[in-house]
Amino acid sequence: MYYQEELVEEVRSRNDIVAVVSQYVKMNKRGANYFGCCPFHSEKTPSFSVSPSKQMYYCFGCGAGGNVLTFVMEYENYTFQEAVKYLADRAGITLPEGETTEEERQAASLRSRLLEANKEAARYYYFQLKSPQGRRAWEYFQGRGLSEETIRRFGLGYSPMYRDDLYQYLRKKGYSDEVLNQSGLVKITERGVNDRFWNRAMFPIMDANSRVIGFGGRVMGDGEPKYLNSPETRIFDKGRNLYGLNLARKSRKPYFLLCEGYMDVIAMHQAGFDCAVASLGPACPQGHALLIKRYVKEVILTYDSDGAGVKAAMRAIPILKEAGLTARVLNMRPHKDPDEFIVHEGAAAFQERIDQAINSFLYECDVLRSQYDFADPEQKTRFHRAVAGKLTEFPDELERNNYLEAVCSRHQIPPDALRDMVRRVGAARPVGEETPRPEVREMRRRQSREKDEGLLEAQRLVLSWAFSEEGKPACIREYLEPGDFTDAVCGQMAQLVWAAWKEGRQPEPASLMNHFLDSEEERSQVAAVFNTELPPERTGEEKKKILAESIRRIRKNSLDQAARRETDRGRLQEIIRQKARVETRAYFSEIVAKL
Ligand code: UTP
Ligand code: MN
Repeated sequence: MYYQEELVEEVRSRNDIVAVVSQYVKMNKRGANYFGCCPFHSEKTPSFSVSPSKQMYYCFGCGAGGNVLTFVMEYENYTFQEAVKYLADRAGITLPEGETTEEERQAASLRSRLLEANKEAARYYYFQLKSPQGRRAWEYFQGRGLSEETIRRFGLGYSPMYRDDLYQYLRKKGYSDEVLNQSGLVKITERGVNDRFWNRAMFPIMDANSRVIGFGGRVMGDGEPKYLNSPETRIFDKGRNLYGLNLARKSRKPYFLLCEGYMDVIAMHQAGFDCAVASLGPACPQGHALLIKRYVKEVILTYDSDGAGVKAAMRAIPILKEAGLTARVLNMRPHKDPDEFIVHEGAAAFQERIDQAINSFLYECDVLRSQYDFADPEQKTRFHRAVAGKLTEFPDELERNNYLEAVCSRHQIPPDALRDMVRRVGAARPVGEETPRPEVREMRRRQSREKDEGLLEAQRLVLSWAFSEEGKPACIREYLEPGDFTDAVCGQMAQLVWAAWKEGRQPEPASLMNHFLDSEEERSQVAAVFNTELPPERTGEEKKKILAESIRRIRKNSLDQAARRETDRGRLQEIIRQKARVETRAYFSEIVAKL
């Protein structure tokens, strides 16, 4: 569905951000802004701020930021369309139906019919569980130690023995064959209709908003397959959903416990570990890692302790790290999975294992260690070399050293000898023409990062100031153009701001945000711009100097870049002339005088 820009802006501006955020977060007013604990990361002291004048939020802790639309997108895990719809309803705005194409309308209505059918099926299975014919399933769940409260909370159920019981029920509720066929709940063929699930203990799978999107059904006792699952449908994308996420996202823990199975999630939640989720299948695809990263920064892997579980952990670790998450691995031995562990050892023992969970690097080294026979000196050396190779992946020397010491003490390796080996392995790496040592690489990276950060800060400061009460657009326009903002997000913002000025408008911060809704990363950067401020303790004159210096820096960098690109000699000379002027004292004083 496509909404006109004006309509989106209307919906946004009619929903006061303070009122909306207050529905979810307890906030107090401090100065011009409101502060509360950030709902997007776990914290005890409030660093989440909402500005009524800018109609934006920003977290100084995790960098989450945006306007009222992005807030409900993030918090409720809504799509853009869902967020617009929710806020339109809230403000009593009727969204025009006509703007959607017939195809889009049908797709949306199929989706909502599929959601309804799944919800109806979950209710049906739950009802069956409580009926006399569901007695065996009820006993099965109880036999596995689940309380009535847990059964209710996870909406567990029972699918009866009859061939097409659910089908008949849903037909009576008015669902068409077309919808039911696409729901994955039944199979309609020329030979007849069959329910997919048949005499199984049922686990509804919910999305982050607790909407039922599919099912897993377990045989009670032996039988194949042990679990039968819904196929992927228009509403069930296995790569983008995690079992238990609807509950875990509300947890206050700064990590998720990632496991393999339905029963593991349920057992952990029942024991009080409310941040457990399962990836529904052995591997952790990249989609899951990115999904997890929306809520926490750390994952504790609680995969099965058997060979398959170890393999799955070894596959998941690089994927989690790639997504920017840290990973630790919990040792479940001598038990197979979290469910068995908790049944046998209890919650306190499990908490201990969480506390002892080892860093993913040490875990990888442990697994490596088990692949070599230390009685053979040759193999022992190969193990050392493999560890040294892994250590070169840490760019920071101090960090690398810490890991080196940890792995040495764990596997009785002399640290100095391993350090030598790391140096040799690092130097021997065939990486193109130039292979600076890690320390050198890190130093260079830090220097260029500092320079970039100073420049980024200058761009943000000038943009943010353009929105403030004392901001003087005329002056900024005289010295800068959008192309001077070399940072990608600042550049896009400048284009929008300059365009508005050209029409004689002063753009509103929160409406600018409407152009950055697709990317969480960009939203956070836009919000950071609006939270870049001149140091309030400085005098007026000092502030002017800081601004003038920022303008000069932005312009100079832009000319530098232009000079590097320019191939025409005449134009290059002109750029050099301009650059010389930008560097003069007079240029600087002229700006200060105009500010
Ligand atoms: P496991 O075989 O480890 O089962 O499968 P489990 O979780 O310990 O189950 P219980 O304790 O015997 O009841 C882990 C997960 O892999 C998927 C399911 O999501 C399951 O929870 N699976 C397993 C299937 O989809 N189909 C199967 O046949 C088996
Ligand atoms: Mn199990």
